[in-house]
Amino acid sequence: MNTQDVTILRRLLASEAPLDMPTLADETGLTPEVVNERLHSLAQCGFHFSNEASGVELDALPASLVPEAIAALLPDDCLLGQSIQVLKETGSTNDYVTRLGQGNAPHGTVVFALAQTGGRGRLGRRWHSPAGDGLWFSILLRPDSPIAHWPRLALAAGLGIARAAERLVARPVSTKWPNDVLIDRRKLAGILLESRAQGASGFVVLGVGINVNAESFPEEIAEIATSLKLASGCTFQMNRVAADLLAGLDDAIKLCMNDFHELLAQCSQRDALIGHPIEIHSGPETIEGHAMRLGPHGGIVLRSADGSEQEILHGEATLRKPFP
Ligand code: BTN
Repeated sequence: MNTQDVTILRRLLASEAPLDMPTLADETGLTPEVVNERLHSLAQCGFHFSNEASGVELDALPASLVPEAIAALLPDDCLLGQSIQVLKETGSTNDYVTRLGQGNAPHGTVVFALAQTGGRGRLGRRWHSPAGDGLWFSILLRPDSPIAHWPRLALAAGLGIARAAERLVARPVSTKWPNDVLIDRRKLAGILLESRAQGASGFVVLGVGINVNAESFPEEIAEIATSLKLASGCTFQMNRVAADLLAGLDDAIKLCMNDFHELLAQCSQRDALIGHPIEIHSGPETIEGHAMRLGPHGGIVLRSADGSEQEILHGEATLRKPFP
């Protein structure tokens, strides 16, 4: 990621009027020659600038993902995305980021792939990840919190994505424990949280797949999937969606670390299962009960017929009756 490009783009994005070259150079701490050279290089990556007598203006972002565009759109205090890579294709971004985690890559490193050839979902499922209409990415997290608290990050991720998506489509977005984000009860996004606990150098890989501009899906998921575009009728700028999701995830992860009770309350309020009779398939077992709330270990608290409550930590949950 070129940090000079990010600095120039941030300054142009923050300006409502064209910026003359001396001001742009002065405010970015670069020489006019370097600014000119960087604007040229950015234009070759798909950025559109107008460069009139009145100054330089950023007219449009590239249609495809570019690390510098995403970074320039992030809030200043965002801890995620200090390092961003965009790969044309990889097997699975979770596997790629796991390899980075085994090295020295810092907390908040993000890797997007335009396409994944072996995208993985939960429970060993395949995750359909073609090039074009979705965002497939993984984030490296090095939490300070005890390992027992790491599963909480899956709840934070669901909340962060749901809140960001809700702002984009201006419609309610819900979560479904443990890892789905839904609009109109159809799956918009999935989360795959994987961790490597190795003493002080342990890490978490948070993988996210979200359908953005998709208008149709393969037959096997056509009835259960949706996209931001299908939910709103709008076509989205991929770099903006990527930055909004990272900012939403960053906020929710901070909330998870600083006020887990508040995170649980917000997640419980948004979860499509809470308040309904459900069954959870966990290995060979099926557990039935009334979904009460999300629990302190990132599980779902079920009340059984005898009134006892237990927090279930893993499994695939389904409603026992269809949604009313
Ligand atoms: C699920 O709902 O089952 C989780 C889906 C997670 C998919 C994402 S796409 C980016 C990252 N890389 C993967 O191989 N999987 C996750």
